[in-house]
Amino acid sequence: MTSSGTNARTGPDTPSAAGRSGAWETLLPAVSAPPRARGRALQAALRDAVRSGRLAPGTRLPSSRELAADLGVSRGLVTEAYEQLTAEGYLRSGRGAGTWVGGAVRAALPGVRDLAPRSPGAVADFLPGTPDLSLFPRAAWSAAERGVLAELPHHALGYPDPRGLPRLRTALAELLTRRRGVVADPERVVVVSGVAQATTLLGFVLHARGMRAVGVEDPGSPEHETLYASAGLDAVPLPLDDEGLDTGALRASGVRAVVTTPAHQFPTGIAYSARRRAELLDWARAVDGLVVEDDYDGDFRYDRAPVGALQGLDPERVAYTGSVSKSLAPGLRLGWLLVPASMAEEVVERKRTMDLGHPVIDQALLARFVERGDYDRQLRRCRREYRLRRDALVAALAEHLPGTVVSGIAAGLHVIAALPARYGPPERFLASVGAAGIAVRALSSYTRTPPSDDVVRLVLGYAHVSPARIREGVGAMAAAIAARPAG
Ligand SMILES: Cc1ncc(COP(=O)(O)O)c(C=O)c1O
Repeated sequence: MTSSGTNARTGPDTPSAAGRSGAWETLLPAVSAPPRARGRALQAALRDAVRSGRLAPGTRLPSSRELAADLGVSRGLVTEAYEQLTAEGYLRSGRGAGTWVGGAVRAALPGVRDLAPRSPGAVADFLPGTPDLSLFPRAAWSAAERGVLAELPHHALGYPDPRGLPRLRTALAELLTRRRGVVADPERVVVVSGVAQATTLLGFVLHARGMRAVGVEDPGSPEHETLYASAGLDAVPLPLDDEGLDTGALRASGVRAVVTTPAHQFPTGIAYSARRRAELLDWARAVDGLVVEDDYDGDFRYDRAPVGALQGLDPERVAYTGSVSKSLAPGLRLGWLLVPASMAEEVVERKRTMDLGHPVIDQALLARFVERGDYDRQLRRCRREYRLRRDALVAALAEHLPGTVVSGIAAGLHVIAALPARYGPPERFLASVGAAGIAVRALSSYTRTPPSDDVVRLVLGYAHVSPARIREGVGAMAAAIAARPAG
């Protein structure tokens, strides 16, 4: 099966096909359905791609012959899917003019991005954001599950304390104090469904207090902006320098809350300097403000001792949040928020009205997992693996793309690679590697400030890729660049 041959072409009413070449790959899982269900699965996948907006109105579909060849299915199956979806109004076709995505369909979730975009059919996938999900400790988790179900009394299955089970809050307070240097009284721990929910809760509380804007790092995580927007807060992008967020710009912005990723800035990988941390806290005290510390991957530090959390320096000025999304799996939706005393009541009331508390069995499971040392074991195992992968990536870049400057390597699950000028300009580089089926993301996609030079800077996620695949993938990247026509 060739996954590289067929790209979505745009019709006259579609401005650009950029980023859509992976759309056909989303049809691939349908192909592995049992033969009798394959036709229906293909139709469902195609319908879903149109509804979700992955195939935008006006996108021209490949001919049934081409798509059948790409997917490795019979042409009849594709023709049938096209006919069915044309009849349903998802597609339209003109005699001899091909098949197009119809304009009648509104994407069901406009503007919602795939949080963990993956490219299942890619030759190599270096998109950041996901740990290696095959490292999920299934045996230990299922033992903990059996233990929890055996020991939980009936009454514990009622509505939980909206802050979380006392047992989990105690276990998390101990864990985070020990591992991340936070100041954590179990009374200040709120169990949440991830950094995302912690962000939304804080956003609602800040909004209720009259705030309308919050500072975000630029470059930064697009999720911060989206989540605060859902609470009615505008994001004010603030530049970084090599010590962290520019506190001069922060002061000038007039905001009184700012979101930061000081342990391993997302995406640049900067660890905030001690001086910058102190300046941030000085600012927060001066404006009676709040620093939100998103410690999304602070558990992973490879070469030096972990940098303690900012929250430890001033727990009344910093709301600290983290989750198991990088250490266990994002699908668990389990995380924590350490909230300053002055906000605790409002945050907990928001959490209560949002979902009446976090699922009890999941909480008890994580508590047991942490108490018995399974969580520490998991972190040690992941750190060993990810360090090997990081080393493999750095070595492969040196070998195949010599002269590349790699930064942000001391921690986290991704690095920044700045390629020598001969590999640019960025659009040409990205088009070549994209056409070769290699999924990468440019640093520029995380910033509102257009870069002032033509250097190719990539955010390369490595945690979910084996060292062998990393070497192959970087080799394939170099080959794709070498093969491009001069120009
Ligand atoms: C910087 C950053 N913060 C937060 C999140 C979301 O985390 P969670 O899964 O804990 O909601 C992500 C997701 O990848 C992220 O990159």
